[in-house]
Amino acid sequence: MDFKIGKGGEVKLIPVFKGSEKIDDFDGLYQFLKEKEIFSAKVGEVYADIGYKGDKVVLIGLGEEEKLTVDSIRKAYYQAGKELMKFKVESIQVEVPEFKNICYIDEIQGMIEGLLQSEYSFEKYLSQKKIKPSVREVYLNIIEGKKAEAIDKAIEEVKNIIDGVFLARDLVNEPAMTMTPKILAEKAKEELEGLGVDVKVYGQEEIEELGMEAFLAVSKGSAQEPQLIVMEYKGNEEAEEKLALVGKGLTFDSGGYCIKPGDSMNTMFTDMAGAAAVIGAMKAIAKSKLDKNVVAVVAACENLISGTAYKPGDIIGSMSGKTIEILNTDAEGRLTLADALWYAVKNLKANKVIDVATLTGACVVALGNINTGAITNNEDFMEEVKKASQIAGEPVWELPNNEEYKELNKGDFADLKNTGGRGAGTITAGLFLGEFVDSTPWVHLDIAGTSYSSKARGYLPKGATGVPVKTLYYLAKNFKNY
Ligand code: BES
Ligand code: MN
Ligand code: ZN
Repeated sequence: MDFKIGKGGEVKLIPVFKGSEKIDDFDGLYQFLKEKEIFSAKVGEVYADIGYKGDKVVLIGLGEEEKLTVDSIRKAYYQAGKELMKFKVESIQVEVPEFKNICYIDEIQGMIEGLLQSEYSFEKYLSQKKIKPSVREVYLNIIEGKKAEAIDKAIEEVKNIIDGVFLARDLVNEPAMTMTPKILAEKAKEELEGLGVDVKVYGQEEIEELGMEAFLAVSKGSAQEPQLIVMEYKGNEEAEEKLALVGKGLTFDSGGYCIKPGDSMNTMFTDMAGAAAVIGAMKAIAKSKLDKNVVAVVAACENLISGTAYKPGDIIGSMSGKTIEILNTDAEGRLTLADALWYAVKNLKANKVIDVATLTGACVVALGNINTGAITNNEDFMEEVKKASQIAGEPVWELPNNEEYKELNKGDFADLKNTGGRGAGTITAGLFLGEFVDSTPWVHLDIAGTSYSSKARGYLPKGATGVPVKTLYYLAKNFKNY
């Protein structure tokens, strides 16, 4: 899709609020549809009059003007995009009037994002393609007097963000056989190096030298070499402040000797969705040339069963020096992340760190696929994350972090144990990670429920959603350099 400011195109896109008495253009059609109760302008409801002799217009429902959000604009224009594809429309004119409660740039960004989102699908392995994007030219009919320069910049930003989101989705949707730790590392290099991101990849020996014993324990049962992927983006040479993004990178999680039943294992090729999200976010950040310093760390490996695999009862070390009793080999994510977080904080000297992980089934039980679970050691930083998530339209829900929960992670024969018992599984898993960041402000996001979906919802497709790439992008954008 190519975006231009001005007039042109075969079909007009007209936003309509619920309950509007009349609309400026095509009011005859609108009155007819209203009277017959064919179109009531609910969010995401679209009426297309396009075919052979049609009016060449799509009315787009935005719901009540008072309740309008950027996310409802995204949803509505996503639906419009789907409709345009049905009719193989190649060029459109998007009407961009001013709305009451939303700033003009946000409104335009919402419209563009919705249209772009409508074109995603993972069809690499389908012999018959399902989705054929048709719209090539989009004319934005903006109000006179609005600064075209600012709008051009806003368009570029959305395109970059969506590039990051689509990259994350593609990485997650790829099966484990074609998304091994090595391939993931290759992809990170391929996608980021050209954008000025420094990507370093460390293999088995170097990981041993670093002393990442927890990470290595998880990887022991696999024939694939583990990879520590470190990505550095320096958008501000003067500033010392540095934000770290750490992503869980299990390219497959069988559960190990505490093996998962088949029904739970069949989506475990997506257990690197955290890694995909941080790689996708780095792409969006670097493409948008944010003036921030951001590093990303992924400890990528597989959790498998073999004669060399780690076992329940093992007592392992970690890069931090803390020892860990293995009560369950399926609680592997927190082990890999323990070393990745320690590395981000101690070796890379990040000032703030956020980790993103498909960490617990308990989070799916608690929050379903709507909210990402969150936990922190610093409420101010949590506020920043919540703000970013709100802009992104990727809701997060903070869970409690009382000292009492931390007690549950204490080991009997080692400093810690890798499961905290039956209750509060998402909280204890999160707080386990908090043991490896020292006093650095830290937020953990559990995306077990939100990163992958068995059905499409709103503008999110079936399969990988790309959540929370947008949140990470906005967090970096608003990150304070002082
Ligand atoms: N990768 C899983 C968590 C998961 C479950 C992600 C469902 C996405 C969907 C994680 O490694 C895991 O197995 N967690 C265990 C922890 C338990 C053994 C303490 C779980 O949630 O069952
Ligand atoms: Mn597991
Ligand atoms: Zn896992």
